[in-house]
Amino acid sequence: MTRPEPTPLARALGRLPSGVYVVTSRRGAAPVGFVGSFVQQVAFEPPTVVLAVGQERDQLPDLRATGRFALSVLGTGDQALMSPFLKRLAPGATPFDGLALERTGSGLVVLAASLAWLDCRIEGERAAGDHVVLFGVVEEAALNHEGDPRVHVRRNGLSY
Ligand SMILES: Cc1cc2nc3c(=O)[nH]c(=O)nc-3n(C[C@H](O)[C@H](O)[C@H](O)COP(=O)(O)O)c2cc1C
Repeated sequence: MTRPEPTPLARALGRLPSGVYVVTSRRGAAPVGFVGSFVQQVAFEPPTVVLAVGQERDQLPDLRATGRFALSVLGTGDQALMSPFLKRLAPGATPFDGLALERTGSGLVVLAASLAWLDCRIEGERAAGDHVVLFGVVEEAALNHEGDPRVHVRRNGLSY
């Protein structure tokens, strides 16, 4: 079956490149995470990023309640770091099982094998259609190792 050709608007939007991140926060003491790509730096001082989260995303209430999120920056070869967050898991399993983890000063879990991580305090939000844009002031960050970040471009900019 051939997929319908995306509209020119969808194809044009898909040419906006982004990185790929594992976004983490916590639910009580338990880490939560999802793959995110709607991320951009928007200020130098204080260093600030925005993250757009789907209005229905399970983890959105956790980010709001914690007031923080962390970004683990994925590299070109880091498929194995993101796939646990995208596949159906066995009952009782979490996507963090088997991944090397570190803790930031604020207590969030980040991926030790990622290129870098940033721990952000949420400083306001703004609804944007079907997403919520969270402003995150970067309070702590580390470069784990050198390498090229994964770049995400899409055939259809109306989906991830
Ligand atoms: C490449 C990629 C980028 C994504 N970027 C975002 C994002 O920026 N914000 C968001 O809320 N969800 C994003 N998602 C969706 C979440 O990762 C989502 O939890 C995951 O696809 C599972 O979807 P489900 O909970 O609808 O089953 C992205 C997914 C993929 C595969």
